[in-house]
Amino acid sequence: SLIVPSVQELAKKPISKIPPRYVRHDNQKHPLISSDDPSIPFVPVIDLHSLFATASESSTYSFELNKLHTAAKEWGFFQVINHGVSESLLEDFKREVLKFFKLPMEEKQKLWQEEDNHEGFGQLFVVSEEQKLDWCDMFYITTLPHNLRQFQLFQKLPPVLREKLEAYSMEIKKLAMAILGEMGKALGMDNEEMTELFDDGVQSIRMNYYPPCPEPELALGFSPHSDADALTILYQLTDTEGLQVRKDGKWVPVKPLPNALVVNIGDIMEIVTNGVYKSIEHRAIVRSNIERLSVATFYSSSMGTELGPARSLVAQHNVANFRRVPLEEYFKGFFARKLDGKSFLDYMKL
Ligand code: SIN
Ligand code: FE2
Repeated sequence: SLIVPSVQELAKKPISKIPPRYVRHDNQKHPLISSDDPSIPFVPVIDLHSLFATASESSTYSFELNKLHTAAKEWGFFQVINHGVSESLLEDFKREVLKFFKLPMEEKQKLWQEEDNHEGFGQLFVVSEEQKLDWCDMFYITTLPHNLRQFQLFQKLPPVLREKLEAYSMEIKKLAMAILGEMGKALGMDNEEMTELFDDGVQSIRMNYYPPCPEPELALGFSPHSDADALTILYQLTDTEGLQVRKDGKWVPVKPLPNALVVNIGDIMEIVTNGVYKSIEHRAIVRSNIERLSVATFYSSSMGTELGPARSLVAQHNVANFRRVPLEEYFKGFFARKLDGKSFLDYMKL
């Protein structure tokens, strides 16, 4: 990755125009779409209490499981409530992340990305000086498995943030495994298949800070992309709308709901499900007078596993829709690519 300047520092200056590196091609506009508009569809909300606490024979259970299955197939995105992650942990973690982005630049500089290391503060997927940049500072860190952690980076984190991050990472892994387990049931996969693929999965966390932007419609907080992982769990820290999901050719906003988490299907899951669940393009827009913060947790299969459609589903469908590659091969070159839609998924298609 190339080293990029801090957008947060740039946004502190009294500027009325944004630098050309942040102006999208053809001055294409990215307007705010209000989720209050009744003509805009609403991203499904799944009540996990009905799934986690109810016997699998009950009708409430089947109803909610079917809702989850349909959302994963037709939207690739949904929000979850009653997810079991403690409200006090969410509050504590939020407070520490807010403080982290408000640290003086001299402090953050010590945690900035380096040429050969994409973890830390900065931007991902920056491969050329000509490339358009996102109106966002992020902090990216691999959290699981432990042997993939960069300990020097962990050691430089403020101690309380580190403690809350560790707790959050564990809770979100538990939630991801529980959701994957329910998805396995909905798909009619072999019981052990999901566990074998994901038990020792790779988890990384990306904290995003989108500063107010003087020309919000010309910039983007996060370029359109699909996620490369299996399952992403997004915590919207602020009440500010910004995330938009592609649905039937239109951008649909994901309204921040209190105590909800956003879940989306990534490319790996589209492959594992043999194409039943969809990894959907999404983006983040920015605002003129309000900041926005979010934390995305990416969960992928275990390093030793092969990436490909689940064998039980290939048997069920009588066809494999994707090729098989070692997961390492899939990840190699991933960080070198520029974000351009679902190109890698297309390569995997048979
Ligand atoms: C993303 O992770 O794709 C965007 C996250 C956000 O909504 O800020
Ligand atoms: Fe994403």
